[in-house]
Amino acid sequence: MKKIVLITGSTDGIGLETAKLMLSLGHKVLLHGRNEAKLAQVKQQLSPLAEIENYIADLSDLAQVNIFAEKVSQDHPQLDILINNAGVYNVSEIVSSDGLDVRFAVNVLAPYLLTNKLIKNLGITGRVINLSSAALAQIRPSELTQPSALSDSRVYAKSKLALTMWSRHLALKLGQNGPAIIAVNPASMLASKMVKEAYGIIGGDLTIGAKVLVKAALSAEFSAASGLYFDNDIGEFTSPHVDVADENKIADLVRVIENTNARALSSKESNETKNM
Ligand SMILES: NC(=O)c1ccc[n+]([C@@H]2O[C@H](COP(=O)([O-])OP(=O)(O)OC[C@H]3O[C@@H](n4cnc5c(N)ncnc54)[C@H](OP(=O)(O)O)[C@@H]3O)[C@@H](O)[C@H]2O)c1
Repeated sequence: MKKIVLITGSTDGIGLETAKLMLSLGHKVLLHGRNEAKLAQVKQQLSPLAEIENYIADLSDLAQVNIFAEKVSQDHPQLDILINNAGVYNVSEIVSSDGLDVRFAVNVLAPYLLTNKLIKNLGITGRVINLSSAALAQIRPSELTQPSALSDSRVYAKSKLALTMWSRHLALKLGQNGPAIIAVNPASMLASKMVKEAYGIIGGDLTIGAKVLVKAALSAEFSAASGLYFDNDIGEFTSPHVDVADENKIADLVRVIENTNARALSSKESNETKNM
């Protein structure tokens, strides 16, 4: 059956490959990017393949994420798959327009906000795929609330653990009453611009990542995988990190994610009101 699939960060790398694969299988893809010209170019490149819609939002700006989610929600009261693929490793400017760390905003806060706003659209048959990583590092919740002076690799690994912990939390919270929430490491060192910029290497075949995301999104094998982490480096579901099993730590982290999102959105709203 034809599915409607939203893939964040589908203008490059694994997201773009996944969009191509989904389209070739006959599904409708909602492309997302932050750069209008690049997004339009990707749409033009892929449009002979099938049905595509474009959405633009800079995920480091939570007000834009909010508007993006509302647009998708209005346009698609029923959405089958959300792939939270967009991610950053290093950025030119660390502080976001919300005063947060761009890397935490894009990799953790934006997927949280987008997913929560689209939960109803995804219903009980939908799936959410969160792009995790083999690089995971312990995070204190307060680290999410401000720009970090740590290295890109530390911040990246912390952001990916936070995303994976929240993924598990949401799956357990929803149970059978919402979409399946699945964390996936698409395989390490795949040939994207992120890997090239971060490690200076070309990397492996991007379609390895695209294929596992399509499998996670559509296959029967993943239908009972809500709350789990699939590691495509070893081709198995596995336990990614001790903190993903720590309910107290997860509860503390999710509380901070929630509050940080709410604070960022309300301060933007009050600034807009002042400027009216
Ligand atoms: N490649 C790997 O080996 C690997 C391994 C483990 C996990 N991952 C994860 O896989 C996901 C995809 O990574 P990739 O390797 O394919 O990287 P990539 O080629 O750099 O693609 C990242 C995508 O995210 C988009 N993006 C970045 N910042 C954004 C922002 N502020 N707002 C909106 N979109 C934004 C990019 O848009 P532009 O096109 O405008 O840059 C691009 O479409 C990431 O979550 C990454 O952490 C990758």
